[in-house]
Amino acid sequence: MRGGFGALPDALASRRAEGLYRNRGVLESAQGPRVRLDGVELLSFCSNDYLGLANDPRVVAAFREGAARWGAGSGASHLVSGHMGVHHALEEALAAFTGRERALLFSSGYAANLGVVGALLDKGDVVFEDRLNHASLIDAAQLSGARLQRFLHNDVSSLDTHAARIGGRRRMVAVDGVFSMDGDEAPLAALADACDRHDTLLLVDDAHGFGVLGASGAGSLEAQGVGARVELLMGTLGKALGTAGAFVAGDATFIETLVQHARTYIYTTALPPAVAAAALESLRIVQEEGWRRERLGSLVLRLRAGAEALGLSLLPSRSPIQPLVLGDAGRALAWAQALRKRGILVPAIRPPTVPRGSARLRITLSAAHENADVDRLLEALAEVARA
Ligand SMILES: Cc1ncc(COP(=O)(O)O)c(C=O)c1O
Repeated sequence: MRGGFGALPDALASRRAEGLYRNRGVLESAQGPRVRLDGVELLSFCSNDYLGLANDPRVVAAFREGAARWGAGSGASHLVSGHMGVHHALEEALAAFTGRERALLFSSGYAANLGVVGALLDKGDVVFEDRLNHASLIDAAQLSGARLQRFLHNDVSSLDTHAARIGGRRRMVAVDGVFSMDGDEAPLAALADACDRHDTLLLVDDAHGFGVLGASGAGSLEAQGVGARVELLMGTLGKALGTAGAFVAGDATFIETLVQHARTYIYTTALPPAVAAAALESLRIVQEEGWRRERLGSLVLRLRAGAEALGLSLLPSRSPIQPLVLGDAGRALAWAQALRKRGILVPAIRPPTVPRGSARLRITLSAAHENADVDRLLEALAEVARA
């Protein structure tokens, strides 16, 4: 192999030997509790479609109508000529829903995190991040050129220690609102207090809380009553809203700074307009159908009670992410395979996505699941645990 890449085959082989190899299955159906994967019907507990909106007929119809009205592609970046009326309407709806002056659309949550951190921080600045933050926030810090200091998970005193010690021209704390592989929530009020003490901006990535947590579904900030104490909120549209893309919401000065400087906003084609049309419809449903969140909450309680009765301890979480830590990557994979043999799809999450020794099954629930689906999962878990 040219260019010094001769070691790649061995590297792939050792990844496989360590149980860390990742395989893609081919989904042959729409997302939902029942999917067809590689030719097999399975009961799925592994999507982030927490409210069951990815294949909701009204959202699909809005997508179709959006394409008919605006075309298939946006044709340009937002600042050139791709910022269409439907993108603008979605930004205004997201700003109103989150109670912010403005919201700005990005083509993914990953791009939003790179964009916001990169636009606001530079060499000479510092960003403090929870050590279990999503990879996109970590990458964002590294790309920005700012100093990245990680603190212990959900440990405000660890943040205090670092923030007291490290100076920087501009200072930011960035955390996941709901941690994607653990399902627990950042202590936002205590973090906001720490930001007051250390004169630091707070950015919350609420990819897994937006649409799901809070009485109206506005997410972790609403659920924890911190509102404007968090200057910048990133939310994604590809999880609970069932579509794609993301937004950053905040005051007009911050958002205008992103318009001027966020490279992942400026140098990329705007989201397909049909996606924005579908997300607008999802946002309406999120606000009008609170029963979806209630249903999800009751499924979470049912699963947790059932797992406890089986002696299986799920990580503490009230979110739809309910992980069962099994330790070794091979063990997590074996459990996932055993469940799959029983017709149930739950992903094994292994390093480097999670720290070594904490490989796990990441069970996710959706408002589209039935009680009987959760019961079936519990029966299968009981069988696998016995085996
Ligand atoms: C916490 C968190 N932030 C950001 C992202 C990235 O969002 P997107 O999938 O829209 O790129 C994800 C997951 O994908 C996530 O779990």
